[in-house]
Amino acid sequence: MDEFSLTGKTILITGASSGIGRETAILAGEYGATLFITGRNPVRLRETFNRLGKTGDTLRVASDESTSPRHVSRVTDLIIETEMDALVDALPPLDGIVHCAGIVGPLPAKFITQPDIDHMFGINYHAPVKLTGKILRKKKLSNGASILFMSTIATKNPYFGGALYSGSKAALEAYSKTLALELVSKGIRSNCIMAGLVHTPMIENPSEKNMQEEALERYLKRYPLGIGQPKEIARATIFFMSDASKWITGTSLIMGGE
Ligand SMILES: NC(=O)c1ccc[n+]([C@@H]2O[C@H](COP(=O)([O-])OP(=O)(O)OC[C@H]3O[C@@H](n4cnc5c(N)ncnc54)[C@H](OP(=O)(O)O)[C@@H]3O)[C@@H](O)[C@H]2O)c1
Repeated sequence: MDEFSLTGKTILITGASSGIGRETAILAGEYGATLFITGRNPVRLRETFNRLGKTGDTLRVASDESTSPRHVSRVTDLIIETEMDALVDALPPLDGIVHCAGIVGPLPAKFITQPDIDHMFGINYHAPVKLTGKILRKKKLSNGASILFMSTIATKNPYFGGALYSGSKAALEAYSKTLALELVSKGIRSNCIMAGLVHTPMIENPSEKNMQEEALERYLKRYPLGIGQPKEIARATIFFMSDASKWITGTSLIMGGE
């Protein structure tokens, strides 16, 4: 048996319309998973959906958007509670959740205001925490399942303007460790990836994403192995979703060698 295979597993991936979530969805499909993908942008989510393999099991759920019986895509803004509830209702029993949806937005500490906190924590912390809780309460996560959160190496190594982003992800790491403890009796695992800089739309256009170019350049020098590609994170995610990692829970994997 190939313990890295995802055949027979149904996995929810948030943030699948871009970057790490998209690459993870595509690779998970290649490893045999049946996928339920979400994102906000319908066009880019459809692009991901069209690149998924046809090897998953047939999903027995009503699909409002997919054309393939094997995978489902659903546009969802995770900030909107009613949309999150509708997503949870539409979910089949899951063997894995990969929380990729997230935002970045550097802001020096002295300028942080309540709306900034609400915005950053809303998607980076509140959304994955609430989504996980709703899925658990609706009993849609099978025993032995695996949950993965995308954190950042910045929770360990600070960068200028990163207080809010790092804070939201540090809170997520603490949540994941507690979740691991609370779910261990069901054999459900919870882990994080603390990635260094990965080449995705999140960092591609610094001015658009409010990351100062100078800061980005300084940041790049901190990576002896170069900056990462989404596929590197996707490969590690496959490991965490697979039975090959079934003795690992409550941990955070540093990637990038910073
Ligand atoms: N790139 C890096 O260097 C890096 C490093 C460490 C950790 N991470 C983490 O890895 C995760 C993925 O990052 P990425 O680089 O792949 O970013 P990305 O390319 O910008 O993708 C972010 C994803 O999050 C989704 N999203 C944002 N707000 C949302 C909302 N309100 N509701 C639903 N979905 C929402 C986006 O959906 P739409 O595009 O459809 O709006 C998109 O699919 C993030 O949590 C990020 O913090 C990234």
